[in-house]
Amino acid sequence: MAFLGSLLALLTSTSLLGGAVQAASVIVPGAAWTDTSGNVIQAHGAGILKVGSTFYMHGEDKTHNSGLFRAVTCYSSSDLVNWSRQNDALTPIANTPISTANIVERPKVIFNQRNSEYVMWFHSDSSNYGAAQVGVATAKSPCGPYSYKASWRPLGAESRDMGLFQDDDSVQTAYVLYASDNNQNFKITRLDANYYNVTTQVAVIPSSTIESPGIYKRNGVYWLFGSMTTGWNPNPNKYWRSNALSGTWSSSSDIAPQATRTYFSQHTYTLPLGSNGVYMGDRWRPQQLGGSRYIWLPMSYSSGSPQLVWADVWSINVGAGTYTVHTGTTYEAENGSRGGASTLMDNSGFSGGRGIGYLGNGGTVTINNVQGLGRDQWVSLYYAVGDSTWRNVTVSVNGGGNVLVDQPNTGSGNTILSVPVKLNLRNGANTLVFGGGQSNYAGDLDKIIVYTQA
Ligand SMILES: *[C@@H]1O[C@H](CO)[C@@H](O)[C@H](O)[C@H]1NC(C)=O
Ligand SMILES: *[C@@H]1O[C@H](CO)[C@@H](O)[C@H](O)[C@H]1NC(C)=O
Ligand SMILES: *[C@@H]1O[C@H](CO)[C@@H](O)[C@H](O)[C@H]1NC(C)=O
Ligand SMILES: *[C@@H]1O[C@H](CO)[C@@H](O)[C@H](O)[C@H]1NC(C)=O
Repeated sequence: MAFLGSLLALLTSTSLLGGAVQAASVIVPGAAWTDTSGNVIQAHGAGILKVGSTFYMHGEDKTHNSGLFRAVTCYSSSDLVNWSRQNDALTPIANTPISTANIVERPKVIFNQRNSEYVMWFHSDSSNYGAAQVGVATAKSPCGPYSYKASWRPLGAESRDMGLFQDDDSVQTAYVLYASDNNQNFKITRLDANYYNVTTQVAVIPSSTIESPGIYKRNGVYWLFGSMTTGWNPNPNKYWRSNALSGTWSSSSDIAPQATRTYFSQHTYTLPLGSNGVYMGDRWRPQQLGGSRYIWLPMSYSSGSPQLVWADVWSINVGAGTYTVHTGTTYEAENGSRGGASTLMDNSGFSGGRGIGYLGNGGTVTINNVQGLGRDQWVSLYYAVGDSTWRNVTVSVNGGGNVLVDQPNTGSGNTILSVPVKLNLRNGANTLVFGGGQSNYAGDLDKIIVYTQA
């Protein structure tokens, strides 16, 4: 039975991927994503560039856990899951605005067909964000290395968080999207034919305090995505809609249930793929910036406007432009057996209205009879942490060592988020213990979902 189950799972995933063989084939938001060398991917504040059938991802290297400039990385992939790190696209240059004492954020690259050249725009700033400039660098290949040209204030006004948009007209007119005037006014300004400089401001969204912007064009409609300004902390990200870049832009609306604060993420880029695009966001961890994670999710327009589709584990068929949100088996925490000081708690936010609190500091919950397939599997822990700081929870499988899983705060005690952990489950029944061997309190546990994928 279990063997048949795994055979079916393999067949299913193979057909989803159009013949590709197993390995990392799923997107797991919030997990530590690794590249083909096994290193944690450093591509924060990223953008995606597609050249032929290859995706290139340019992002910030935060290995040094600092906001200061270390490198703009470049990764390549044909499936958006299996990423190979290439040479760094842009590296610091002493005594310039892109030295290691300065800030380079949100790199975005577009291809200029007129010059057959890749052009990178980024937020170029001093360490206290006082310079508030854009920077530009160019290269003849997607990963460069890029030659730095200049940093300056577009049309003389401040520019902080920014994005780029390349339209689909015959000359591929491009625009820089940026938070200006002390982040109060959001501006859309046209680039010149080389994409080296700005020419004309085409729109201002006043008093809008937008960060991490990007525009996704769908069926002729422009959807602007961005966050509000709460520093590294998450907030409910928004969309604005317009039939023309010059406006009129709609007022803002949430792209995800407000309480989730965009599933603890900040938009960085919306990838045009399939009929709805893919949301790409950062789950920042300011105390440990290099450990910030990526939240990529499918989008739905079934309500007429864009909404994120939460998915613990999902796959994209890049060729067909379709996605599959995988399903798993749910085990409610309140069904487990409690140990120590843990408590059964009523919580309207929890599935079944109940969960287990006071885990850690001696409090545990044991979930028995968790069915496994004799290999690594993703397991999502649904929990709540009402604090302003993160917690963590230990998991032990069949008496083995504790695995520590970070739990970002969820904004309130009855807002639920999930975090993934890859566990090696034996074939058949497994016993999972949560909260053992930790002297701090874990989040309140609602349920776990066990997936067949790894
Ligand atoms: C991942 O990409 C590398 C480099 O392109 C390739 O050698 C490898 O076969 C790929 N693995 C999978 C599972 O697609
Ligand atoms: C951009 O254009 C403005 C106006 O022509 C000019 O003053 C400025 O030097 C240009 N900046 C760059 C980096 O070329
Ligand atoms: C919870 O326990 C009940 C009774 O043992 C069982 O029927 C049910 O399947 C369990 N559900 C989950 C989701 O754990
Ligand atoms: C686990 O979380 C607690 C806060 O609840 C923190 O003090 C501790 O450093 C965390 N442990 C690790 C290893 O991150």
